[in-house]
Amino acid sequence: MRLILDGLGHRFGEGAWLFTRLAVELQCGESCAVTGPSGSGKSTLLSILAGWQAPTTGQVRREDVTGVSWVAQNPFGVPGRTTLDHVVLPLLARGLTRKDAEPRARDTLGRFRLLPVADLPFGHLSGGEAQRLMLARAVLTTATLLLVDEPTAQLDPHSAATVIETLSQLADTGRIVVIATHDPRVAATCARSITLGVPA
Ligand SMILES: Nc1ncnc2c1ncn2[C@@H]1O[C@H](COP(=O)(O)OP(=O)(O)OP(=O)(O)O)[C@@H](O)[C@H]1O
Ligand SMILES: [Mg+2]
Repeated sequence: MRLILDGLGHRFGEGAWLFTRLAVELQCGESCAVTGPSGSGKSTLLSILAGWQAPTTGQVRREDVTGVSWVAQNPFGVPGRTTLDHVVLPLLARGLTRKDAEPRARDTLGRFRLLPVADLPFGHLSGGEAQRLMLARAVLTTATLLLVDEPTAQLDPHSAATVIETLSQLADTGRIVVIATHDPRVAATCARSITLGVPA
C-alpha cells in the first residue's frame, strides 16, 4: 500500500496558494505529521488526501488503500452507550457476532488504556478518554488510511499527554496515518512530516 502526494497544490478560487508542489510518498506502517499555523491548510490537505476535495494542481494516488477513516477534532459518540459499545459496533458492522466482537474490542480498549472505563457511558468520559476512544474505534475499522485532525486541540495538557501516548501505536497496525497538528509533541510521534505555511 502506498499514498503518493504528487505535486499537490491548492488554493480556494482565486485566493492565495495554501501549498504548492507537495511531493511525498508514504508506505504502510508510516505516520506523517502535517504541521503549520492555523489557516495554513492542514485540514484542507487531509480532506484532499481523503478524496473529499480535488486539489487545484497535482494528484493523490492511493495504491491498495482499502478505506479511509477520519478521526475528527471533536470526539463524538452516543452519550448513553458505553465505551465498549462504541468499539463493538464497527466489528458488528464487519460481520462479527457480539460473542466474537467483545474480546477483540476489549483487547483494543486495553491498548488504548480504556479498560477501566469500558462500561461507562460515553457522556461520562473525560476529553482525553473520548479522544482515545475515537482512535481505538478507527483502528477497528478496515480502513487502511487514517486521517487524524488535531487530536489534542480540545484537551488539557494531562488529557493530551494520554492521547499522545497512544498515537504512536496507530501506524504499528500497518496502516498509513496522517495527523494534522500544531502540537510539537504530537508531531514527534510521527516518523515523517509535512510543514505548511512556510514560503516554498
Ligand atoms: N471551502 C472553502 N472556501 C474558501 N476558503 C476556505 C474553504 N475551506 C477552508 N478555507 C480557508 O483555507 C484556509 C486553510 O483552512 P484549513 O482549515 O485547511 O486550515 P488549518 O491549517 O487546518 O487551520 P487550523 O489549524 O485552524 O485548523 C483558511 O484560511 C480557511 O479559511
Ligand atoms: Mg484544521
